[in-house]
Amino acid sequence: MKFSLLNESPRLIETECLVIGITGEGDLSSPAQDINDASGGEISRMQKTGDIETGLGKTTLLHGLVGVAAKRVLIIGFGKQKKLTAPRFDRACQAAGTELRDRVFTSCHVTIHDLEFGSRDTAWRLRQAALAIHRANYFYTATKAKKDDSPQPLTSASFSGDASFETALVQAEALALGFAKARLLGELPPNICNPAFLAQEAADIAAQYDHVELDILEEEKMAELGMEALLGVSRGSANPAKLIVLKYSGAAADQQPTILVGKGITFDSGGLSLKSGENMMQMKYDMCGAASVLGAFLSCAKLQLPINLICIVAAVENMPDADAYRPGDVLTSMSGKTIEVLNTDAEGRMVLCDALTYSEQFNPRVVIDVATLTGACVVALGHHASALICNDDKLAEDLHAAGNTIVDRVWRMPLWEEYQSQLDTPFADMKNVGGMSAGMLTAGCFLSRFMEDQNWAHLDIAGSAWKWGSDDGATGRPSGLLTQYLIDQAEAG
Ligand code: BES
Ligand code: MN
Ligand code: ZN
Repeated sequence: MKFSLLNESPRLIETECLVIGITGEGDLSSPAQDINDASGGEISRMQKTGDIETGLGKTTLLHGLVGVAAKRVLIIGFGKQKKLTAPRFDRACQAAGTELRDRVFTSCHVTIHDLEFGSRDTAWRLRQAALAIHRANYFYTATKAKKDDSPQPLTSASFSGDASFETALVQAEALALGFAKARLLGELPPNICNPAFLAQEAADIAAQYDHVELDILEEEKMAELGMEALLGVSRGSANPAKLIVLKYSGAAADQQPTILVGKGITFDSGGLSLKSGENMMQMKYDMCGAASVLGAFLSCAKLQLPINLICIVAAVENMPDADAYRPGDVLTSMSGKTIEVLNTDAEGRMVLCDALTYSEQFNPRVVIDVATLTGACVVALGHHASALICNDDKLAEDLHAAGNTIVDRVWRMPLWEEYQSQLDTPFADMKNVGGMSAGMLTAGCFLSRFMEDQNWAHLDIAGSAWKWGSDDGATGRPSGLLTQYLIDQAEAG
């Protein structure tokens, strides 16, 4: 989608649809006031008669307003102004995006960011509106025979504002690109999106952008490095594992890199600890961690941020087979620590622990891993927050703040040593499951044992990465959170 800025009186803008905002108190933003004046008070009149809905995310479409050049005016309700927060603003913007999509407009002009509230500035509101409209107009067509059956998405959106909002718009474009990549990779079927496919995606990114280098480690190389935990998971699969290492150098070589590690289980059958049919149905999404770090990497490369970034994707398929790893096996990870596999369905931590150990050679500033790691995360937080487990308060605060900024939020969970003993076993340094209680936390404990000397954060996105049901599909999360974090780092210098 093409975004642009237009610094003109809204009443004069010729567009298929002009989008304006209204609050529950009936206050009009200044562009809305302009439209109201141009039409001789039509909006105020309709508001009095109850023909305009002002509740949060409610929409009203008006046709052919006198004195207004736009063919239609779409009025977005923002609810009570006093209650307006970043997440509520975002929800209203998404409603606008959905409405624009369902009405099948191809272009629009947006002014809703003129509606003031709280601590967020106009640039933030503009960026958020652009992103929401872009998000709502994502359509999956990759594996449909009749592609022209899908609705025509909005192709361009202009926003009221002068050149000072250029950065906000450029960021929105980069964020949108990363989001769309993360979402598409998440949604592609596992017979297409396998480890080799993810490696090819990384190669495409490396070919397209400046300052990007790619290294792909094949199974042979991983065996040499002693990655028995990762390779154990891969053993049952006909699709060889790939360890994808994308490097972006936007700063001096001596600046420590930020490292993003993604769980890229392209299909999680559970292995010999086979999942039920019901639980297996959704497991093409088990590479959404990988998808989101690739999405954030793409956004960063597009913005050419002045940072060093390394993205490590453990791309592996978890399948049952005569050669598959078994419950009871003891494997030696790259770190030298031994792991008793008691459940082959706890495979995410097995591939991540070796990817995390591999990351240490780059002398990272911070390491953040992203994974659809536990069903327990979905039970605890549902679908709105990603879980954050972290051994460094500053890093936790920064991620929390970035999530709030872009409304892709995290909630911190404890990493207390009391939970660690649930991983004890007489037969190895640790087992790969911690029992029924606190399943999300013991998974975090497991990973923490490989990151003792690093500033490290783990994001469990099992609930936030996709929606299951009528509104099916990947969310692209947390590519936005990660990109915002990188933007914040770049700004902090
Ligand atoms: N990929 C799953 C986690 C998952 C389950 C994400 C459902 C989203 C929805 C992961 O590999 C897994 O199977 N975890 C097990 C761990 C258990 C065996 C300790 C789980 O959560 O049941
Ligand atoms: Mn599993
Ligand atoms: Zn999994």
